[in-house]
Amino acid sequence: MDHAELTSAFLKLYGKSEQSIRYFFAPGRVNLIGDHIDYNGGMVMPVAISLGITAVIRKRDDQTIRLNSTDRATQIIIDLENDIKFDENAGWGNYPMGVINHLKAAKLALCGADVLFHSTLPIGAGLSSSACLEILTGYSMMKLNDLKVDKLALALLCQEVENKFIGVQCGIMDQFAIALGKKGHAMYLNSSNLECEHIPFETEDYKLLIINSNVARELADSIYNFRRKQCLAALQAIQQERPIKFLCDAKFSEIEELIEDDEIKSRAKHAVWENQYVQEAKEALEEGDLKTFGECMDASHLSLANDYEVSTKELDVLVDGVRSTEDCIGARMTGAGFGGCVIGLVHKDSLQATKDYVANHYKMYTQMEADFYDCEVVDGVRELLS
Ligand code: GLA
Repeated sequence: MDHAELTSAFLKLYGKSEQSIRYFFAPGRVNLIGDHIDYNGGMVMPVAISLGITAVIRKRDDQTIRLNSTDRATQIIIDLENDIKFDENAGWGNYPMGVINHLKAAKLALCGADVLFHSTLPIGAGLSSSACLEILTGYSMMKLNDLKVDKLALALLCQEVENKFIGVQCGIMDQFAIALGKKGHAMYLNSSNLECEHIPFETEDYKLLIINSNVARELADSIYNFRRKQCLAALQAIQQERPIKFLCDAKFSEIEELIEDDEIKSRAKHAVWENQYVQEAKEALEEGDLKTFGECMDASHLSLANDYEVSTKELDVLVDGVRSTEDCIGARMTGAGFGGCVIGLVHKDSLQATKDYVANHYKMYTQMEADFYDCEVVDGVRELLS
């Protein structure tokens, strides 16, 4: 939907008013490398992508917020004068509800608003649609109320929403990337202190291809929380000997000697390996050595699949498929796993041939259809000119 279509959909839904209509956009995110270590003090390398969610928004004179989405039937109504609680039946609405609840708790004075969301980002596909909706809601509500936005503080607030209101113990990576992403750059983010370097993501003739497995990430949240517990167990085992703060700071010898349980040992190995791959990938990217960058992606996928066990048959089939094409130089699952997407660095001249091949390969091994997106790396959340 373009701007004019969105505006007319908004007016059809909410009618006319004296107040002006404003437009905001938040991107989705793809993590190039460094998964499941943003809660272990590791380095991660996400990018903000051109698929995302637009909010069309207009002030109201009362304390009611109405939220609608172009692709969802449910309307969410929030009364700012009442407490906002998580509601099983509200589905996607819990993300904006959680953010508004936390903004209120931070004592920010908010006015009522009518909002229409429109997404080009596949929902629940591991491209951070939930963090996108959170950051978008927070940013547009604050801007609408003439509040100064500190994007890092907003990212932290939205992470807290996810942890406390939604109940997923996620790290900071998604919210950070969506709030602070930079066009044409990968973010080299240190999750232990939130220092971030923006590194030009110059891949010359190679394109970032995103492939959606179309496997719903249903169990993902509970498995995610369980992995966090396992990492904590690993950390505590090592802390009995050495007071490290984060699991990514462990040494291999410590993992071997101090952790008894084999499964926990594997989780810890992933954290340490993955952190090293990100650092190697960063150096490779700075040196323009895409071959090594791709090798780091491959190694990262194997670690996520074998040691961290968050890949699935479908994701592995996609990675194998895209990687077996001649013009792909690296591929891995991206994000939390258990469904969702895979990324590959593929030569631009072979994009279509690669898609065709992978689509057939995927169908043959899983009887499922994959979706493909080629995206640009874009800036984080922002207001769009009307
Ligand atoms: C989810 C979480 C992130 C991160 C990734 C895995 O996307 O929201 O914080 O842990 O999984 O890297």
